[in-house]
Formats: sequence, C-alpha cells, structure tokens
Amino acid sequence: MSSNTVWQNLKISRDDREKLKGHKSFCLWFTGLSGSGKSTIADSVEQRLHQMGVHTYLLDGDNIRKGLNSDLGFSEGDRVENIRRISEVASLFADAGVAVITSFISPFRSEREFARSKFPKGEFIEIFVDCPLEVCESRDVKGLYKKARNGEIKAFTGIDSPYEKPESPELVVASHKESVEESVKKIIDYLIKMKMIK
Ligand code: ADX
Repeated sequence: MSSNTVWQNLKISRDDREKLKGHKSFCLWFTGLSGSGKSTIADSVEQRLHQMGVHTYLLDGDNIRKGLNSDLGFSEGDRVENIRRISEVASLFADAGVAVITSFISPFRSEREFARSKFPKGEFIEIFVDCPLEVCESRDVKGLYKKARNGEIKAFTGIDSPYEKPESPELVVASHKESVEESVKKIIDYLIKMKMIK
C-alpha cells in the first residue's frame, strides 16, 4: 500500500503529447470468449491505424501473460488482478499519447467498468467480439476447449467459468457473421465519426 506518497503534477500533459503526435489517444478494449477472434481483429485494426499514421500499441492476453502477468493464473482473483494491471498500463499508454488496443477475455463487467474509469469520457471504446460458444469451440484454434471439456483445464471461460456479456458496448462485431475486413472497417468508421482519427 502506498499511503505515504503524494501525486506529482508534471509539466507535460497528455494534451501536449497528443498535439505532438497529431492525433487523440484512446483505448480500444476488445472483449470476448477465447477463440472469438479478438486478437485477429485487434491485430488488423492496429495495422490499419499504423498505415494511417496513428501511433498504436497492442496489449494482447496471451503475450502479457508471458511477461508482466506471468505470475497470474485463471482464478477469479487472478483474472481481476490481470485486468486491473492491464487497465493501469493501458491508461499509461494513453497518457503517453498512444492509441492503445487491448485484447483480453476480460470476462467480468466490473473489471471492464474499472478499465473504463481510467479514461476520459469517450476515450474508452469497448468492443464486444460477439461469437457463440459453439463457434469458438468448433474453431478451437489452440486446442484448449478440448482440454477444458476433458477436465485437463479447470475454470475455462464459457465452460466452467463465466463470461458476462457487455450490456452497452460502444461497438459489437459478430465475428461469425462478418469478415475481419468488415469488422475493421466498422471500427475505423466509428473512430472517424467520433473524431478520434482523421
Ligand atoms: S482473462 O480472463 O484474464 O481476461 P486473458 O485474456 O488474459 O484472460 O487470457 C486468455 C487466454 O489464456 C485464452 O485465449 C487462452 O489462450 C488462455 N487460457 C488458458 N487457460 C484459460 C482459462 N482457464 N480460461 C480462459 N483462457 C485460458
């Protein structure tokens, strides 16, 4: 606990950094089941933004769990801590003037609300990658659903651990009905409409 610390007000602000970069900073928060297509869509959105001259950084579940969060598992408490750390890191990236993209199951509404609370209004864009469990399971890209059904993995999201669907996300992409290109276009169009990018 850091009770004997005092917040330092620094001279260079988020506004200054945004001006230098020539675009707003924001967070695209992808949420959805394992295998729903979050990381694929996030990766394509990042490529598109990069081509448009936007400074981006993608925080991806599997990658972050190999480094910063390698001490965390998949209990409810560990998932809460996973998302708490990611929220703080994403908020720092945005403060640095970067368009940050996150791709985590982030199964709990309260943790996604915590993430949202770290951003100025309008700068946290929750994107629900809506894909039925049966489709994610039939894809089983990583073979994890099979293991979860066999009982080799416990507390697997959608099988024996809950996923709380977003109630009012800024965007929904139905990855079983639309192509990656269509989803990317929807997201880029939204960012242009909200004047986040030009
Ligand atoms: S979260 O629930 O804490 O947000 P996160 O997005 O970081 O999860 O990690 C999910 C990834 O970890 C999945 O895509 C999958 O590859 C892997 N994984 C391993 N065990 C589990 C599990 N029990 N539940 C869900 N995903 C798991």
